[in-house]
Amino acid sequence: MVEFSGTVVEGLRAAFGVAGYTVDGVAARLGDQANAALGRNETAPAVRRTASGDALDTMIRLFLLQRSVPENDVHKAFPGIDLVAPGIVVRSGGEVQAAVDVRPFGADGREWWVVADLTPGLDGRREVMRSDYVLGIAPASLSLIQLTVPIKGERALDIGTGCGVQSLHLAGRFNQLTATDVNPRALQLARATAALNHVDLDVRDGSLYEPVAGERYDLIVSNPPYVISPPGGDLTYRETGFTGDAVVEQLVRQAPTHLTDGGWCQLLANWTCVRGEQWEDRLAGWTGDRSAWAVERERLDPSEYVELWLRDAGLHGTPQYPTRYDEWMRYLEDHDVEAIGMGWITLHNVEGSLHAEPWPYEIERPIGPHVLQRFERVETLPNDLNGLHLRVADDVVQETTGQPGAEDPATIVLRRQRGLRRAEQVDTVLAGFVGACDGDLSTGQILAALADLMDRPVVEILSDYLPKIRNLLVEGFLDY
Ligand SMILES: C[S@@+](CC[C@H](N)C(=O)[O-])C[C@H]1O[C@@H](n2cnc3c(N)ncnc32)[C@H](O)[C@@H]1O
Repeated sequence: MVEFSGTVVEGLRAAFGVAGYTVDGVAARLGDQANAALGRNETAPAVRRTASGDALDTMIRLFLLQRSVPENDVHKAFPGIDLVAPGIVVRSGGEVQAAVDVRPFGADGREWWVVADLTPGLDGRREVMRSDYVLGIAPASLSLIQLTVPIKGERALDIGTGCGVQSLHLAGRFNQLTATDVNPRALQLARATAALNHVDLDVRDGSLYEPVAGERYDLIVSNPPYVISPPGGDLTYRETGFTGDAVVEQLVRQAPTHLTDGGWCQLLANWTCVRGEQWEDRLAGWTGDRSAWAVERERLDPSEYVELWLRDAGLHGTPQYPTRYDEWMRYLEDHDVEAIGMGWITLHNVEGSLHAEPWPYEIERPIGPHVLQRFERVETLPNDLNGLHLRVADDVVQETTGQPGAEDPATIVLRRQRGLRRAEQVDTVLAGFVGACDGDLSTGQILAALADLMDRPVVEILSDYLPKIRNLLVEGFLDY
């Protein structure tokens, strides 16, 4: 049982503040090398950097390196508070060890402390994870934070809150925050995280939308337990009893009934690519007549997928590995799964359709502002672009390739440096059009001049190039 009372919360906050137990404070104490090693789950360099025994060293060793620390050092680091009774540390001999992970975390220029279960597998330790394990700040958690559209509103919902990290990130931007989970331990730790950060969080027990029946939100975020696995998987943080990708399907299908008009739902997701079906069509069936965007960041074949998640559970190299591997493969075969897509889905509760695409390339982070901008453009660009005075976006560069000495380039590519860092191959006409977009002439005027120059009918140029110009506008190559 982990419970942070008012005295413990205030004591921890004060102690962390005095010691400098912050993102920057820890980074400065560890230095680049030990920090990077800790990012790879190796603690030895960090142990060397935390030998002074001062309060910050004690906190780092206790929570981040999972070392035993003399009880006396803990008393000095956390004066006047008992960390044993609330279940934050456990005693063993004259030393104590952390029972939960409490670490500083920063995003968007703000900082918090997050309470979660201890990071498994430090220094290559093979640990079987408890089935109610509560994940800390994982790479997927950060992806969702970076994907979240930077809006403000009245109410936000964090489904599958775990340690509460998404809710923290939404705090201050919404007046009411609701967080749900089915794991009682996650509910406890999310409450502890909220308390420690003075965040008013309404934490509710229940599956998916059950705890919020009849309620609507301006933003719903979820990093759900999306792993597509055979029945019997018992890691609540990643698996559910749902078949295939039904957990994601239900989150998406039911989102509009829990969103305000114009509200947003953003999910990380895994989806199955089923034999004989296009994945884009399956997802379009879920998003219906709502405006939505699905991005497949990675696609794995069934064996790559099974290996990924068996390793994640620490099962690689164990006696049950071959059997579990075989069972999982059989399950995917039985469901006609050819591959698994891994990515994001954003649904905006206005009329529209789904745009689904693979985009496995490096992107700018946070991507949320660009997601918002793309939706705005898809939904608000006028039908007639002729009257718009366009400008090339500041981040666009033109790359040309071709034979040395050739009069004309063989290919011209426009590349954005920001957002999804998209690249579009264009012909000389479109390159000429974009080059002329300085806000002076209208789109129609530039296209008419190009038609004249090429001795082609204006109507032909308009019908060839206006759809391409619309695409460049949607993808942010052009501004208006
Ligand atoms: C991958 S973790 C995400 C934790 C956290 N939100 C984050 O972004 O790091 C998924 C969470 O969903 C919870 N969960 C599992 N099944 C659920 C269900 N049916 N309804 C709601 N939450 C569920 C798990 O307990 C876990 O806390």
